[in-house]
Amino acid sequence: MAALVAGNWKMNGLAASLGEMVALKDALARQPAACDVLVCPPATLIAQAAGCVKGAFALGGQDCHASPKGAFTGDLSAEMLKDAGASYVILGHSERRHYHGETSEAVAAKARAAWRAGLKAIICVGESEAQRNAGDAPHVCAAQLDESVPQEATSANTVIAYEPVWAIGTGRTPTSAEIAAMHAHIRSSLIARLGAGGKDMLILYGGSVNPGNAGEILGLPEVGGALVGGASLKCDDFLRIIAAVNPA
Ligand code: PGA
Repeated sequence: MAALVAGNWKMNGLAASLGEMVALKDALARQPAACDVLVCPPATLIAQAAGCVKGAFALGGQDCHASPKGAFTGDLSAEMLKDAGASYVILGHSERRHYHGETSEAVAAKARAAWRAGLKAIICVGESEAQRNAGDAPHVCAAQLDESVPQEATSANTVIAYEPVWAIGTGRTPTSAEIAAMHAHIRSSLIARLGAGGKDMLILYGGSVNPGNAGEILGLPEVGGALVGGASLKCDDFLRIIAAVNPA
């Protein structure tokens, strides 16, 4: 399975930012990526972005509601994201879990909604700094996986992102050994739970990935790509991260 480098723009980007998408499309036409590329802009930009990038890379949402439609003011369904041009949706990001009180059970319901609409789910897990310091990181991530990843998950419909909460937006990352150990742990949890379906499911690393550390992180065993926040907002930085993926 090809590696995936995904950009999470979070709540950043107006119509003027579509220029970054066009620049990315043009650069990838000149120098094709050795991995799959995805950008998840604010949902307001997905439809316009789809018109600009014309399939040069994939687009995704950053959350969805579990229902296909209904009286849920302010929410968006997976079907709406798909209709706008998305093929992926990020689910259970720690900012959703923290600021919106999203539980792992809610994330699992959203994953099923994503599949129902034909979207691939990127399900995020990760420990807080206090949990890591207490030695609980492996247990916390395994529990989040168990509760957030429905049993029907396969490598075709789901990607996992390991994002230690304390590394997001802080410029701090775990050591390479810590990332490799957690990815190995996530792999064995997935296999224990899903059997063969967990064997080739991509496991992305996310949290302060930048052009300077991407080469080392992306070269680690069981790291199937990156989920990039801040450094995905500028096309040049994002391209340097994409270029750090070694051809398979
Ligand atoms: P960051 O964010 O790269 O800005 O640390 C990553 C994420 O939250 O997905």
